[in-house]
Amino acid sequence: MKTAIVTGANGGIGFHTALQLAKDGVHVVLGCRDAARGNDALKKIVDQHSKASVQLANLDLSNLSSVRSFAAKFKEDNSSLDLLVNNAAVMALPERTLSADGYEMQFATNHLGHFLLTAELMPHLLKSSSARIVTVSSIAHRYGKINLNDLQAERNYEGWSAYGTSKLANLLFSFELARKLKNAGNSQISVAAHPGVAKTNILSSGPQMGRKVFRTYLSEFFSKYLAQTDAEGALPIIHACLGPGVHNGDYYGPNGFMELTGRPKKVESKANALDEKMAEKLWTISESLTGAKWPWELFQGTC
Ligand SMILES: NC(=O)c1ccc[n+]([C@@H]2O[C@H](COP(=O)([O-])OP(=O)(O)OC[C@H]3O[C@@H](n4cnc5c(N)ncnc54)[C@H](OP(=O)(O)O)[C@@H]3O)[C@@H](O)[C@H]2O)c1
Repeated sequence: MKTAIVTGANGGIGFHTALQLAKDGVHVVLGCRDAARGNDALKKIVDQHSKASVQLANLDLSNLSSVRSFAAKFKEDNSSLDLLVNNAAVMALPERTLSADGYEMQFATNHLGHFLLTAELMPHLLKSSSARIVTVSSIAHRYGKINLNDLQAERNYEGWSAYGTSKLANLLFSFELARKLKNAGNSQISVAAHPGVAKTNILSSGPQMGRKVFRTYLSEFFSKYLAQTDAEGALPIIHACLGPGVHNGDYYGPNGFMELTGRPKKVESKANALDEKMAEKLWTISESLTGAKWPWELFQGTC
């Protein structure tokens, strides 16, 4: 039986991805920060599929020590990992907020937490020759900008820009990992995907978080008139996880107008997500911010 981890699996895209994986006979570990919400999700999956093999584990991606504990426990309990879905995210926090480790919250949760998680789990991923690391990005990466002089947005914070930047970081990471795996001659693959626009908590939580009125209306407009369901939004991510013909370095999204809705297809990122020099710099900085140690000695060739 294959084993998968889905981060942020208690709702939205993560939940539907976990549900489909469980239906396909994969043992799924739900990485969630809230035990009650995680248990509800677990029950819903088992209710819909009585043979599902699902387990809940505590994971707060905005806290590096929680990421380390989660990975250590997983490695203790499992001999290998076939699929890691880096899905959890927070979006457009109206005020600059800091993670447990003192980093800007969206960059910390969406990018740094997943960067460390992947590094910590890599020894187990390398034990599965067909392992996939699927990182969830967004159309919003298009307005992201990595400012190496103000990576924590100390001088200039705006919630939506910080979200776009974190989603650009997700893509730079996913593509750089794909290059590293390829250069080392490994069979494991790194793939990115985005859901287009889907009705999930991430779209509807604007007013509660005090987002600016215009942006909140825009979010509501998207949610009401343009968005697909959360189950539909999960399809490109599920395709990246299980689909045939998925290759290292691919990026999937919906096939409809402006990639907002539709069936999964291979999509193109904006050019800045393909900037290899920036990807390397971001990698080095992320290593130093998280203390991540990549097990290069376990990769097939020399890196
Ligand atoms: N929905 C869209 O239209 C859309 C568009 C583009 C990209 N995306 C991407 O799709 C992915 C899933 O988002 P979604 O739309 O499904 O949103 P969602 O319903 O809000 O789900 C986000 C998940 O991430 C979890 N999470 C947030 N912070 C966390 C933390 N510190 N540690 C662990 N888990 C945490 C949430 O847990 P809690 O329930 O505890 O908050 C929730 O389970 C994200 O990467 C997002 O950027 C979504």
